[in-house]
Amino acid sequence: MLKPLVDDISETTVSRRRVLGGALFWASCGIVVAILGVIGGGVLRFLYPRALYEASKIFKVGSPESYKIGSVNLVTGRGVWIVREQEGFYAILAKCTHLGCQPIWYEDQQVFKCPCHGSRFHKDGVNFAGPAPRPLDRLYLSLASDGRLEVDKGKDVGLDYKLKV
Ligand code: FES
Repeated sequence: MLKPLVDDISETTVSRRRVLGGALFWASCGIVVAILGVIGGGVLRFLYPRALYEASKIFKVGSPESYKIGSVNLVTGRGVWIVREQEGFYAILAKCTHLGCQPIWYEDQQVFKCPCHGSRFHKDGVNFAGPAPRPLDRLYLSLASDGRLEVDKGKDVGLDYKLKV
């Protein structure tokens, strides 16, 4: 017995429609998932932005009375020395002017020495040996309204700057 030719064609057509419909469905699902992923990523970036939190450049370093005359004091975590002399205070950036290493204060020799390439600086920050091309940077130091010393790392001042308290 022969089957009618028309029925075969009809079954084949339905099968193609199913296959195409399924493919379209899964493609649509993929697009929806991709869109949701993009939106979700944007929301996550909004909630957790890529931001670097840097410490403030202006900070207080205690009362003037807490520094002895003639002392050089490293402010831990701030990279600044506070120097007190008879005539007043000044703040020095603890960063070598050669390539940026942190010099070390040698109390017995009254000198800053850079451990990287051997530059030497006097107590006032002036360079006298090694490859450092200029003195250590002196920073703006003032007396805050609460009576404490305040350093502004964003303001560079000249070597003759001293805070008289
Ligand atoms: S970084 Fe200080 S001497 Fe080179």
